[in-house]
Amino acid sequence: MCHWRYLGMLVFIALEEKIIFSKLGDNATLSCIYQGKKLPLKNLRVYWQIADDQEECSVVHALISGQDNESEQCVHFKNRTQLFWDKLENGDFSLLLLNVSQSDVRTYKCVVLQKTEYTKVIHQAEVVLSLAASYSQPILSGPIRNSNSTGEEVTFSCRSGNGYPEPNVYWINKTDNSHLLPSELTITPHTDGTYSVFSTLKVKATSDMQIECSIENRILQENLSANYTQEKQSNGSSTESHKNLEKNGRGAQAAGIISIVILMGLLAGLTCWLWRRRSSKLASYTGNEAIHLHDQF
Ligand SMILES: *[C@@H]1O[C@H](CO)[C@@H](O)[C@H](O)[C@H]1NC(C)=O
Ligand SMILES: *[C@@H]1O[C@H](CO)[C@@H](O)[C@H](O)[C@H]1NC(C)=O
Ligand SMILES: *[C@@H]1O[C@H](CO)[C@@H](O)[C@H](O)[C@H]1NC(C)=O
Ligand SMILES: *[C@@H]1O[C@H](CO)[C@@H](O)[C@H](O)[C@H]1NC(C)=O
Repeated sequence: MCHWRYLGMLVFIALEEKIIFSKLGDNATLSCIYQGKKLPLKNLRVYWQIADDQEECSVVHALISGQDNESEQCVHFKNRTQLFWDKLENGDFSLLLLNVSQSDVRTYKCVVLQKTEYTKVIHQAEVVLSLAASYSQPILSGPIRNSNSTGEEVTFSCRSGNGYPEPNVYWINKTDNSHLLPSELTITPHTDGTYSVFSTLKVKATSDMQIECSIENRILQENLSANYTQEKQSNGSSTESHKNLEKNGRGAQAAGIISIVILMGLLAGLTCWLWRRRSSKLASYTGNEAIHLHDQF
């Protein structure tokens, strides 16, 4: 290992550096492509390692004389790395890292050494691995009327989580698409590396409020939003759309209960009627049945 580092200092090679983003649990491809002429694999050594020199264990993957060599590979990367065997011959030494976790967020270095009379570095590349995770669908609650405020001020709140990196939160007045300033914005980091977010908005209540809370993940170029719409009714008064749904829900429930009661009543009536009919039939047919019985014997 020290061998190539020493050589690395002697031989100047332009270092390309890339940043790649992976979601938690996904597989990430760390790219390292040598564009020079084709070289026989048996004369090559490819080291993928953690770029930080302070690291106690730095070998992520090693290819020696055309074979994977696990003898120096760090335990953290055991069974989690693969080269693209069909592409090696073409100078593509990219590494597939499986099941990316928070602890994989590092700068990785690929070093390609050629062994002829002496060993020299023919290619190097650095890849910064960063994480990204989609935020959950935001949940918008409110409006809640603020009791100790003058006028008709209400509060909305919005929450989302399981995302990475830290989100941008937008409160938008959908009636004119203006941005509103949150009165509270709390971003909480969690042990799994993700963030959750909670934000509140205080606004003056109007008869046609349309509020949107939008959670943006810049890296994934994702915007997830939740909306609140206050609907105007024909009688001029206004009600809130989700409260409306709740009311409709209760109405449907009540209707359901009433229909069950009616149905049960009908069933009881029917049973009663059938029973009575049957008893009267039994009474009237007893004679005939007796005759049939006699026929059978
Ligand atoms: C791995 O490399 C070490 C030292 O470079 C060597 O002794 C060992 O034989 C190699 N193992 C394989 C499987 O190539
Ligand atoms: C890697 O996989 C092998 C065989 O599939 C297994 O025996 C070994 O325990 C695994 N090592 C780690 C560190 O998971
Ligand atoms: C992926 O890694 C996590 C820990 O980072 C582990 O709990 C999980 O079992 C791994 N999944 C697979 C499919 O190996
Ligand atoms: C997300 O929405 C905000 C506010 O509307 C906007 O400024 C931003 O450009 C959007 N981002 C993406 C990735 O669409």
